[in-house]
Amino acid sequence: MYISYHYPFPILSFSINDEAYFLSKENLKIHYNLYKNDVEKLNSLLAGYPSFKTWNLEELIFYANKLPKKIRNEVVKYSGSVFNHQIFFNSLGSSNTTIPNQVMTAILGSFSSFSSFCLEFTKACENFDDFGFVFLCIDSSKRLVIVPVHLNDTTIPLNLYPLFGIDLYEHSYYLDFIFNPREYYNLFINHINWNYVLDELNECQKFFK
Ligand SMILES: [Fe+2]
Repeated sequence: MYISYHYPFPILSFSINDEAYFLSKENLKIHYNLYKNDVEKLNSLLAGYPSFKTWNLEELIFYANKLPKKIRNEVVKYSGSVFNHQIFFNSLGSSNTTIPNQVMTAILGSFSSFSSFCLEFTKACENFDDFGFVFLCIDSSKRLVIVPVHLNDTTIPLNLYPLFGIDLYEHSYYLDFIFNPREYYNLFINHINWNYVLDELNECQKFFK
């Protein structure tokens, strides 16, 4: 995911108006609009700084100390939010997506079974007592790890490449699952866009070269 200015919104792999989706269209629209606001804020912050318009999100976050002080903190905040939300919205798929062999092999190389991987992922969500995200990442030795990040922090400084991730801010689920967030975690893991995960698994080669 190497995207530079003018930062776009992702094309969703599902219909936001699907009444049967595990997240209601009301909840999705509220969340998507929050995310869009952050994309617009980031674009407007960088609009007056042509030399940084070629930088992708990863560079804005990793080389933040090179940004002008006047915009640095806000750029880091909104870059982190946009980076994490891009992964979250791209991670959302339908419930009947077949898991590509390459993805399943990677999961089984790091977890004892697919069901124990799902259990570990949802447990990490349950144990996360803050606002933020939980990502499935790959490290430089090709091992998959489940990593929580707080607020607008990202996995970039950890030298980890995220393959998919769940948003654990209340705004992502409160209309549908405010009294049962565990159901949100379980339904999320059953609605992963595995084709996106496969693309990212291939893309991560560039990150670790
Ligand atoms: Fe969010």
